[in-house]
Amino acid sequence: MSFQRFPLAALSAAILAGCAGMQPAGERVESAFVILGDDGMATARAITTAASCPAIQIDGKSAPMAVRSPLSPIPPRPQAGEAKDRPVAVSSPVQSCETPLPAGARSVLVAGRALPLPVPEPKRIVVIGDTGCRLKGKEFQDCNDPEAFPFARVAASAAAWKPDLVIHVGDFHYREDPCPADRPGCAGSPFGYGWDAWKADFFAPATTLLKAAPWVVARGNHENCARGGQGWWRFLDPRPLRPESSCDDPARDETGDYTDPYTVPLGGDAQLLVFDSANTSYRGFKPGDVRIEKYSDTYRKIEALSSKARHTIAVDHHPLYGFGATEDKKTGAISLFGGDAGLIQAFGAIQPRLLPANVDVLLSGHVHLWEQVSFSSDHPTQFVSGFAGTAEDIVPLPVRVAPGTTPAPGAIVESMSSWIDGFGFMTMERTGPQRWSVVIHDRDGKERNTCSVEGRRSHCALPQVPRMVQH
Ligand SMILES: [Fe+2]
Repeated sequence: MSFQRFPLAALSAAILAGCAGMQPAGERVESAFVILGDDGMATARAITTAASCPAIQIDGKSAPMAVRSPLSPIPPRPQAGEAKDRPVAVSSPVQSCETPLPAGARSVLVAGRALPLPVPEPKRIVVIGDTGCRLKGKEFQDCNDPEAFPFARVAASAAAWKPDLVIHVGDFHYREDPCPADRPGCAGSPFGYGWDAWKADFFAPATTLLKAAPWVVARGNHENCARGGQGWWRFLDPRPLRPESSCDDPARDETGDYTDPYTVPLGGDAQLLVFDSANTSYRGFKPGDVRIEKYSDTYRKIEALSSKARHTIAVDHHPLYGFGATEDKKTGAISLFGGDAGLIQAFGAIQPRLLPANVDVLLSGHVHLWEQVSFSSDHPTQFVSGFAGTAEDIVPLPVRVAPGTTPAPGAIVESMSSWIDGFGFMTMERTGPQRWSVVIHDRDGKERNTCSVEGRRSHCALPQVPRMVQH
C-alpha cells in the first residue's frame, strides 16, 4: 500500500478509527520473537497494532508485556540529500512490546504462540543477511515475485534445518523508494521507513524463522539513523530504547547511530561477539570525523569482551577480511575490492590485525553473495553470508587471488570460496571446542558447498559454487 498522497494526520486518524476495537488484542500481534543481547540475555518482543501490549505467559504465569515504543506511526524524519524529493511514506501505527526472559524459562507464550527459547550451548546456527527487497534509486527488485525475492522461502528452508540460534548479519530494510509505475514486479509495495515497509520486507517473510529459534541481530548500514534506524531501534536492537537513541531526531544521530558491542555465550569456552558497524564508510574517514573516535571506542570494548572466551566468533555487517568484485562496463575488466576503509582506519590504528587475537572467525554480510576466505597469516576466517533475499551480486569472485592481493593489511590469503547469483543460507554446526562444520544451502535447503573450520583456519570443498538458473 502506498500512502504518499495523503496528509499524515488524516491518514493516521483514519487507520485508528478503522481498526480500533475490531479484533481481540491477541489477533493484532503482527510478530512475536526472541532477541538475544548482552551476555546472551533473552528478550521476548511483540509488535502489535493494538492499543495495549499483549500478555506474556512464562511457565504458566501471565503478565502484561512492557511498552518499548508506544502505538504510533514511525515519524518521518526530515529528508535530505538524494532523498529530498522522495514522497513521504506515512505508515500504519504499531506498538513494540517486550519482556526480559528469566534464564531457564521452559515455556513462553505470547498471544497463544509459543516462542523459541535459548539453549545453554547452541550447536546449530543459521547465518543469513541482506534479506530485503531492493527499491532504491535505479534498482528495483520484483518484490511481488517469490523467485526474484525469495527470502520467505530461504527463511522456511532455514527453519526446517531446526537451528538452536539464528544470526542475521544486517541489512534488513531495503524498500526505501516507491516502486515506479512502469515496474509491475514491485507494484503496490510499501516503501519508506515505517512499519508497512518493515513488515513486507522483513517481519512477514521471516515469520517461520522467527518461530524457529532466538535471533542474534547485527546492524547493517541500511539500519543507520538516516535510513531504517528508527525501525531498528523500535523492533530489533537488543538494548533498552532511550529517546536520545531512537533515531527520531537527526540532531541526536551521534548517539543513535552507535551501540556498544556485546557477547552471547555459546558454552564450552566459545562466544559470539557482536559489534555495530552501521555507520562506517568504505571511503574511510577524514580527520576530525566523529566516527574515528566512535569506532576506536568500539574496538576497545571488543578487546575487553574478547577475553571472555577462548574461541570467539565476531559478528558484524561489514566484512573486514572479505572481497567484493566490480566489473568495468566498458572493458569487462573485473576488479576486486576488500575490507572496509573506515573500520580498517579506526581498528587498525589500535590493532593491525583489526580484531583481537582470540577472534577466530568473522561473520558478516553487506556483499550480496556467499564467500569464505582463510589466511596463512594469523587473521580470522571471514564468512560473508549476504545472500538471503536482496538481489544478488553477479560479478564472479576468482577461485584464487594473485599473491599480494589482500582485503586487509598484512593478511595473506590461503584459500577462498564463493557463490554468486544463488540465494540461500549458511549453517554452522559445532563439532569440537573450536571446530565447525559449515554448509551452504540454496533457497530450498539443498547443499551447495561444505566447509570445515578449525580455530581461525577454514577450508571449503568447492572454491566456486557453479552458477545455476533456479526455478
Ligand atoms: Fe550493507
